Amino acid sequence: MKRFKIALCGAALFLSAGLTQASDLAAGKAVWTKLNCASCHGADAKSPILPAYPILAGQHADFLAHALKAYQRGAAGAPTSANVRKNAVMGAFATQLSKQDVANVSAWLASQPGPLVVRK
Ligand code: HEC
Repeated sequence: MKRFKIALCGAALFLSAGLTQASDLAAGKAVWTKLNCASCHGADAKSPILPAYPILAGQHADFLAHALKAYQRGAAGAPTSANVRKNAVMGAFATQLSKQDVANVSAWLASQPGPLVVRK
């Protein structure tokens, strides 16, 4: 019985961890529109206003979320490391995003058709 309870706790933990990462594509698009991310990255997230700006459409969601969190850490003053990005522009935008916003907008961007593909 004890073992069963432990297994149940594990399953509950696993489920709740999964739920906090659940993303909402419509909410992600709403974040994109509200903060006007398109003004630099393009309405389709793959036509940036400058060639040096990254294409986001079709990028892996976990990569995008990691990048946004890295800008947040950088803006919060964390010393530069592999998990910290110091960028004045993206730092200012990333700090306006909640954890859920990051998950949602990353999932929405990943769902958009783009040229970033794994060639097989
Ligand atoms: C004023 C222009 C501008 C706006 C507005 C803007 N970005 Fe960016 N974004 C950039 C630039 C420039 C970079 C590259 C910065 C660097 O060198 O790290 C970038 C990088 C990124 C990256 C990292 C991509 C990668 O491949 O490493 C993500 C993700 C991102 N932006 C998402 C967003 C989201 C989401 C918004 C809206 C909340 C947004 N951006 C608004 C200019 C902008």
